[in-house]
Amino acid sequence: MKLDIALIPGDGVGPEVVAAACDVLDAMARRFGHTVETTTQLMGGAALRAGKPALPPETLAACRAVPATLLGAVGDPAFDHLPSKERPEGGLLAIRKGLGVFANLRPTRIWPGLEETGPLKSHIARGADLLIVRELTGGLYFGEPRQIDRQAGEAFNTMRYSVGEIDRIARVAFDAARTRRKQLTSVDKANVLETSQLWRAVVNDVAKDYPDVAVQHMYVDSCAMALVTHPTRFDVILTENLFGDILSDEAAVIAGSIGLLPSASLGAGPGLYEPVHGSAPDIAGQDKANPLGTIASLAMLLRYSFGLQAESDRIDAAIGETLAAGDRTADLPGAGATLGCREMGRRVAARI
Ligand code: IPM
Ligand code: MG
Repeated sequence: MKLDIALIPGDGVGPEVVAAACDVLDAMARRFGHTVETTTQLMGGAALRAGKPALPPETLAACRAVPATLLGAVGDPAFDHLPSKERPEGGLLAIRKGLGVFANLRPTRIWPGLEETGPLKSHIARGADLLIVRELTGGLYFGEPRQIDRQAGEAFNTMRYSVGEIDRIARVAFDAARTRRKQLTSVDKANVLETSQLWRAVVNDVAKDYPDVAVQHMYVDSCAMALVTHPTRFDVILTENLFGDILSDEAAVIAGSIGLLPSASLGAGPGLYEPVHGSAPDIAGQDKANPLGTIASLAMLLRYSFGLQAESDRIDAAIGETLAAGDRTADLPGAGATLGCREMGRRVAARI
């Protein structure tokens, strides 16, 4: 099969983790007899530094023209003074919107061998395996009107959801639950927010089409606590954009490091795949980042955009074997030697 993939290395540690993932991509292509064709695109701070907007139109066009894009990280403190939409992060929101990828899947699990090393007590984390389905192109991050008025000393954002937006993300989550343990937790703040009241009503409507899936509703504050006190209670968590952003970072605590977490952003067309971690400017360029989140995102890319189950499973298995062999990057405590980002990628590639 010929695999056309756009690469957006982006900012900070992004280029390092994408390079490591490309080693794994090459190894997978060799082993399974695929041809890979990649183009490299500018975005975020990297685009701004080249005198372009955070999302150059040619980048969006290139990503629209292929089934899948692998993105490293976006974010550069040098541009923190810019208005939200012009910042590197504005480019990330714009590409999500531009590709129409409204469904963000963020799986978290505890890899065998890492139970003792994460911040949670091992008896709490052991066996945790959950999927956060985050609505990605609506809510506060996109709602209009929005404004900051320094003169008046006031700022506001708009949280807005339509039935259609809630219905389509709910169906993604219910479908995912069907392939897992058939438990869905919908997270909202319906005791305070009207958007959450609509959310809950629409989720209940969609639930009628999925009688085999058990549904519970939870307030986001209570969910935030339960995630780290009883993580094994969760299977699929369905939630809106802001809550999903926050809860998915929290869920990284269960896995032991945010460097391990992958994501897939899906809509009707091309998919966008990126690790959950950010650009980590403090360690950029030092070969210290953990590439496993990006490599696991590559596994999701092969599964969701190309339907390559065996290839995807092989990469996930190779990640597990590498961790089980004691190979660790600096973010993961361990007995063995600490590996650099590229070497960690090579170890996974060698096990493909
Ligand atoms: C994430 C990130 C982004 C988000 C930022 C960088 C805009 O935190 O992917 O979780 O808020 O979605
Ligand atoms: Mg985030």
